[in-house]
Amino acid sequence: MSDLERVLARAPSNIALVKYMGKTDFTRNLPVNSSLSLTLSELCTYVEIRDVGEPRSSPEWIAEKPDGAKGEVPTLNESGREKFLRHFERCRSHSPEILRGSGLELSQTRATAMPAIRTTNTFPSEAGIASSASSFAALTLAAVAYFSASRNSFRDRYARDPEMRRSLAELSREGSGSSIRSFEGPFVAWKNARAESVESLLPPLSDLVVIVSAGKKLVGSSEAHRRVESSPYWVGRSSRAETRFEELKGALKRGAFQRVAEIAEADFRDMHHLFETAQPPFSYFAPGTEEVLEFLAIGADDGESPFAVTMDAGPNVHVVVPQSSEEFWRKKIAERFPQFLILVDRQGAGAELIE
Ligand code: PMV
Repeated sequence: MSDLERVLARAPSNIALVKYMGKTDFTRNLPVNSSLSLTLSELCTYVEIRDVGEPRSSPEWIAEKPDGAKGEVPTLNESGREKFLRHFERCRSHSPEILRGSGLELSQTRATAMPAIRTTNTFPSEAGIASSASSFAALTLAAVAYFSASRNSFRDRYARDPEMRRSLAELSREGSGSSIRSFEGPFVAWKNARAESVESLLPPLSDLVVIVSAGKKLVGSSEAHRRVESSPYWVGRSSRAETRFEELKGALKRGAFQRVAEIAEADFRDMHHLFETAQPPFSYFAPGTEEVLEFLAIGADDGESPFAVTMDAGPNVHVVVPQSSEEFWRKKIAERFPQFLILVDRQGAGAELIE
């Protein structure tokens, strides 16, 4: 490979317990309200950036699996590819400043290079899970590492400098808002332009994702962020979410799982209610979503095995439980809903550089 370089990074998805919904700035993805999420681990995206021998006029996304990556190559349409490559260029323009700020040097040769980019997602493609948080976080980390002059110094600095992580997370946010929360873990709070990890006394957690439907969403999350403003319940949403955000931080700090569960439930229902009362109204619920929620609320609660439920802008149900009862819950849900795939993941620590 002589002096041809390759960088491989991976970043996990995250699941919000207080949701990001609505933007004050649609170009920079600044949120109306603070949000707080659990970072996952194996549900992730791998991004490889590598030099190519022959000169090119632009970077290129190639539908191939990178060596050493797990998962499947996603299907990216033209606009998905453009958005991804536009973010790579955003990383190129911000790399000098981020690297300098962390005491690192820019690679002069790669500053103008047009590399090839390959990606995989570990979510089974039939799960229909959005991968924008994990893919933009992995792309940001891989790209800035690619533009640095020394991989080892970059790796070192990234491992021990939370400020550098946060600058990368902020840059990632400009590509996809929720990706800002995929750089640390297990709990990350995002307020205005910045995100940082928050303290928790909870035991280690797992997320069981009940895949109720994998169909394509009729309303994408960008449109949802705009349309919620037309709901009569939009008034007050920001203060309801801020109150929950502060309470959630307190509940995590005390290790009060039951309170965490109550806040998570109130907030995802609040967000879905905004969708259903927007103009025109829309809903992500699929046949089966309500049954799973009802089963959890009534049929499954033995009063002894705590769980928290949440849903993103999609039909699938996330059941967050202590890792010690992961198998108990997986079996219980699988027995009642054998028709639905259940993905099991655990809390994680955020984006990492592999090579
Ligand atoms: O990052 P986006 O624009 O895909 O927003 C996603 C927002 C939700 O997933 C619905 C909630 C959240 O906080 O992750």
